[in-house]
Amino acid sequence: MKIGFAITVVLVVVLVVFNVAGVFLGDWDRTPVVASQQGYRGLGMEVVSNPRTNAALRRLNVVPEPYPPADPGGPRASQIYENVQVLGDLSEEEFTRLMSAITDWVSPEEGCLYCHNDENLADDDVYTKVVARRMLQMTQHLNSQWQDHVGTTGVTCYTCHRGRPVPAEVWFKDPGPRQAVGIGNRAEQNAPADSVALSSLPYDPFSPFLSDAREIRVASTVALPSGNRRSIKQTEWTYGLMMHFSQSLGVNCTYCHNTRSFFSWDASPPQRSVAWHGIRMARDVNVNYIEPLKPSFPEHRLGPLGDVLKVNCATCHQGVNKPLYGANMLQDYPSLARSGP
Ligand code: HEC
Ligand code: HEC
Ligand code: HEC
Ligand code: HEC
Repeated sequence: MKIGFAITVVLVVVLVVFNVAGVFLGDWDRTPVVASQQGYRGLGMEVVSNPRTNAALRRLNVVPEPYPPADPGGPRASQIYENVQVLGDLSEEEFTRLMSAITDWVSPEEGCLYCHNDENLADDDVYTKVVARRMLQMTQHLNSQWQDHVGTTGVTCYTCHRGRPVPAEVWFKDPGPRQAVGIGNRAEQNAPADSVALSSLPYDPFSPFLSDAREIRVASTVALPSGNRRSIKQTEWTYGLMMHFSQSLGVNCTYCHNTRSFFSWDASPPQRSVAWHGIRMARDVNVNYIEPLKPSFPEHRLGPLGDVLKVNCATCHQGVNKPLYGANMLQDYPSLARSGP
C-alpha cells in the first residue's frame, strides 16, 4: 500500500516536472519532413525529404572555388615538357592550373608528390601518375561520350574523389560476412549489407550488372513456364541493385517508377531513362578504364578477392539525386571535356 502510494507520488512529480520544463524550454517540434509530388496526382509518387539530413548533405557538397582563368597563349605543353600524352595541347599556364586543381581534388594533403617523383616530373615510375593519366582520359570520355547521362554538367575528378586519393564510395567483389559454422550456405545474401541499404538481398549486386552485362529483370514478357528465363537469383540481384540506386541518390523507388508496374517504361518518370544510361556508363568505365588498370595498382589497393575498386552510382552521387547538386565545375576546366580515346 505504502509502496504503491510512493510510486504514484514519484510519477506525478516526474510528470509535473516534464510539463513545466516543456512550457519553459519552448519549441519541441522537430522540423517536419517534406513530400514533393513526382507523378500524376493520386499515385503517391512522392519524394520525401528531411530538412535536417538535407542540411548535412548540403555541407558535404560544397564545390571548391575554381582557380582564376589561365592565359591560353604561348607554346604548348607538348613542346615544353617531356612526357605529356593527354594534355599536350594546353598552354603552360593552363597546364599548371589544371595540375594545381587536380592536386586539390585528389591529393590535397600529399600534394604534387603523390603522383610525381620529385627528381623528375616526367618520370612515370610512381603508379599514381599512370593511374591519373588514364583517369584524365576516363573523365574526358565520360564528359564527351556519356552526355545522355551526365548532360553538359559533366564530371571532374572532384565528383568522385572529393579531396581523397581513393573515392569514399567504391565497390569490389565481396566475400561477405563470415559464415557461422553450421548455418549452411548463405548464397551470397541473407545478411544485412550496407551495399543494399541494410536489406538481406545479395550483397554484391554490382558484379552481375555494373561489370558483367546481365539483364536487370524481374517480370517476364511471356507466359510461364516455357519462355520465362527470370530466375529467383536474378530477381534478388535486381532488387539489390534497386536498393543501391535509391540509397545512392537519396530517393525512393517512385523517383524512377510508377509502382503500379515497375516494368512499364511508359508509366515511368524520365529519370528512369537517365538511370538506364547511367548503368551502361558505369559498366563502360569499369570494364574499359578501371579494371584494365589492375596491374598498375599495388596489392594493398585491391579488394579482398584481388579485384580493383570500381565505380557504382554512389561513387559520383554520394546521396544526392544530381552529384554536387548539379553544380557545373566542368565549365571552368574545359580540357576535361575534350573527346578522349
Ligand atoms: C593526381 C596525380 C597528379 C598530381 C597530384 C599532380 N600531377 Fe602533374 N602530372 C600528372 C599526370 C598524369 C601527368 C601527365 C599528363 C599527360 O600525360 O598528359 C603530369 C605531368 C606533369 C608535368 C609534365 C612533366 C613532363 O616533363 O612531362 C608537370 C611539370 C607537372 N605534372 C607538374 C605538377 C605540379 C607542379 C603538381 C602540383 C601542383 C602536379 N603536377 C600534381 C599527374 C599529377
Ligand atoms: C567516375 C569516378 C572517378 C573519376 C571521375 C575520377 N576517378 Fe580517380 N579513381 C576512381 C576509382 C574508383 C579509383 C580506384 C581506387 C583504387 O583502386 O584505389 C580511382 C583511383 C585514382 C588514383 C589512385 C589513387 C591511389 O591512391 O591508389 C588516382 C591518382 C586518381 N584516381 C586520379 C584521378 C584524377 C586525376 C581524376 C580526374 C582527371 C580522376 N581520378 C577522376 C574514380 C574516379
Ligand atoms: C534512379 C532510378 C531508379 C530507382 C530509384 C529505382 N529504379 Fe528500379 N529500375 C530502374 C531502371 C533504369 C530499370 C531498368 C534497367 C534495365 O533495363 O537495364 C529498373 C528496373 C526495375 C525492375 C525490373 C523490371 C523488369 O523489367 O522486370 C524492378 C522490379 C525495379 N526496378 C524495382 C525497383 C524498386 C523496388 C525500387 C526501390 C527500392 C527501384 N526499382 C528504384 C531505375 C530505378
Ligand atoms: C561519373 C559520375 C556518375 C555516375 C557513376 C552516375 N551518375 Fe547519375 N548523374 C551524374 C551527373 C553529373 C548527373 C547530372 C546530369 C545533369 O545535370 O543533367 C546525373 C544525373 C542522374 C539522374 C537524373 C537526376 C534528376 O534529378 O534528374 C539519375 C536518375 C541518375 N543520375 C542515376 C544514376 C544511377 C542509377 C547511377 C548508377 C547506375 C548513376 N546515376 C551513376 C553522374 C553520375
